[in-house]
Amino acid sequence: MALVTSTEMFKKAYDGGYAVGAFNVNNMEIVQAIAEAANELKSPVILQASAGARKYASQAYLMKLVEAAVATTDVPIVMHLDHGADFDICKDCVDGGFTSVMIDCSSKPFEENVAESKKVADYAHDHGAVVEAELGTLSGVEDDVNVADDKAMYTDPDQVEEFVKRTGVDSLAIAIGTSHGAYKFKPGTNPKLRLDILEEVAKRLPGFPIVLHGSSSVPQEYVKIINEHGGALKDAIGIPEDQLREAARGAVCKINIDSDLRLGMTAGIREHFEAHPDHFDPRQYIGDGRKYVKEIVRHKIIDVLGSDNKA
Ligand code: G3H
Ligand code: 13P
Ligand code: ZN
Repeated sequence: MALVTSTEMFKKAYDGGYAVGAFNVNNMEIVQAIAEAANELKSPVILQASAGARKYASQAYLMKLVEAAVATTDVPIVMHLDHGADFDICKDCVDGGFTSVMIDCSSKPFEENVAESKKVADYAHDHGAVVEAELGTLSGVEDDVNVADDKAMYTDPDQVEEFVKRTGVDSLAIAIGTSHGAYKFKPGTNPKLRLDILEEVAKRLPGFPIVLHGSSSVPQEYVKIINEHGGALKDAIGIPEDQLREAARGAVCKINIDSDLRLGMTAGIREHFEAHPDHFDPRQYIGDGRKYVKEIVRHKIIDVLGSDNKA
């Protein structure tokens, strides 16, 4: 199947009450793990690259890896830019064959966010690509943006209609209490997403696809493997999966997951080295990391997103 935009994918997800996983990719093994899991489960999937991924792997390699994923699977795949900081990076990705880009000016004043998002939407639409923008700010670390917890701001539902109308973007990321990274909440706390804000936003934008960033659940079984095999991760918990499931049943059509895949890769590699301290063939230890990444993607598709058999 060819590389597609998310237009049809999101329409089906909205109507069907499920969400599509957007998984961050940085190397071949991660692309393979996601593509294999999605293909086995007949699930549509979004592969996304951050500016950091483009710097690490280079856009040329990433595009070839995604091309290989498309050639070896039979499910719709979107290639998306995650957290594009300005028009230039978005243009570069559209020109390079990405079918979707995110322009993230969420930390800028409203008018600046509108102007840059509209500029990107106009360019992308002229070139057959679609655009995600963001209103409200998440805490945590993104490539060039580090938002402190006290600066994180929920999305104001009163702004969403005007923003979407004026920019022409195709989907909107909102802040309802998710955050980036593996250290989201202290253990023992009871994280609660503001699903009431999501509902308000959905009322103002009927049928419009909403995106959730920072949606890793920080699965404790992988944290445990890492820490039992020489790691020193701090105690933390992530976004409760039942709340993500509920969001997916509503207007949320795209759920972003990166940190959980990193935990899976690290757990597999650490476990491998403890069992085989004499190994030095990267295929052996990265291969074990890849197995856990695939296991995690399968779990997300079946138990959180509900996108299996929707390709
Ligand atoms: O939202 C951020 C993503 O997890 C990408 O992380 O900028 O370290 O590649 P990165
Ligand atoms: P996590 O850090 O929760 O995996 O979020 C990833 C993300 O939002 C990528 O844009
Ligand atoms: Zn994000």
